[in-house]
Amino acid sequence: MGKLLQVNNLRVKFPLKESDVLAVRDVSFWLPEGRTLGLVGESGCGKSVTAYSILNLVSPPGIIEAGGMFYRDKNILSMSEDELRSMRGKEIAMIFQEPMTSLNPVFTIGSQISESIMLHLRMNKKDAREYAVDMLSLVGIPDPHKRYDSYPHEFSGGMRQRVMIAMALSASPSILIADEPTTALDVTIQAQILDLLMKIQEEREMSLLLITHDLGIVANIADEIAVMYAGEFVEYGPTDEIFGDPLHPYTKGLFEAIPKIGENAERLKTIPGVVPAISADPGGCVFHPRCPAGSDECTEKPIPLIDCKDGRKVRCIKTDR
Ligand SMILES: Nc1ncnc2c1ncn2[C@@H]1O[C@H](COP(=O)(O)OP(=O)(O)O)[C@@H](O)[C@H]1O
Ligand SMILES: [Mg+2]
Repeated sequence: MGKLLQVNNLRVKFPLKESDVLAVRDVSFWLPEGRTLGLVGESGCGKSVTAYSILNLVSPPGIIEAGGMFYRDKNILSMSEDELRSMRGKEIAMIFQEPMTSLNPVFTIGSQISESIMLHLRMNKKDAREYAVDMLSLVGIPDPHKRYDSYPHEFSGGMRQRVMIAMALSASPSILIADEPTTALDVTIQAQILDLLMKIQEEREMSLLLITHDLGIVANIADEIAVMYAGEFVEYGPTDEIFGDPLHPYTKGLFEAIPKIGENAERLKTIPGVVPAISADPGGCVFHPRCPAGSDECTEKPIPLIDCKDGRKVRCIKTDR
């Protein structure tokens, strides 16, 4: 299994007036060809910053302080602007939570997809139109010939997300990064979009990095899961293993927060506290203040990501491995 994308010891800082924010600290993972990695964690833990880093698109004042990102063994951080431009979209494409912000309201959705096709695949206008209609049909837009000429506001949220997927897929990228692709949608539509992503990922043998705050979402889709907390991975491994037996107290907490069928949503458990923004490397475990299993020992020194059974990794000295 080839390592399509490898991220080594990524560290991203936002130097701010009051104090720095260490958004990502020492994140390492690889994305195998044709598989899905789910990146999970509460809001503010560094998921989006990790995703933007892969495309070398961290917004100022953010800086990638350390680490390396390799796409097919080529260092993304040493690519020229031209190389980056042709990699983005064509090799690695990205879709976001709110499709309306990525679609231009004054152009028809068809012309926007065609534009992207002409740019990446160097097709002429007529061929690009035909290809765009095929893409609309692929993502389940009914009556694609007619809908080609519609404007973004004439589509529902779910249909707009389908359009974004069509656009992202138009250049046949080998990696799709989906950052909270269904968060803005209602539950039924969420399921349809996730099914679509899963189907396309399988058919095209594409690699998918699926980012979500909702552990329930990755359960059926991801081959592997990385659980993120305050800028670092706290648990990483095969989905089935993690679901069968979560090791990190934070992962356990996330599982308890997933509503079960028939459960009263008002009685939903959540982990008390919020993800802290960190300005410097902590002395010990960052989760310690919220951890039910923590003790003084956890605050003494930084906790590494520890290798444990079945190819799993966990950043906790208290779990049974
Ligand atoms: N442009 C920015 N300026 C300052 N801080 C930022 C910026 N973008 C992200 N951050 C900080 O980085 C951390 C991680 O953010 P993010 O990756 O967006 O979280 P997530 O996607 O997991 O919700 C947060 O503490 C956030 O406040
Ligand atoms: Mg985010």
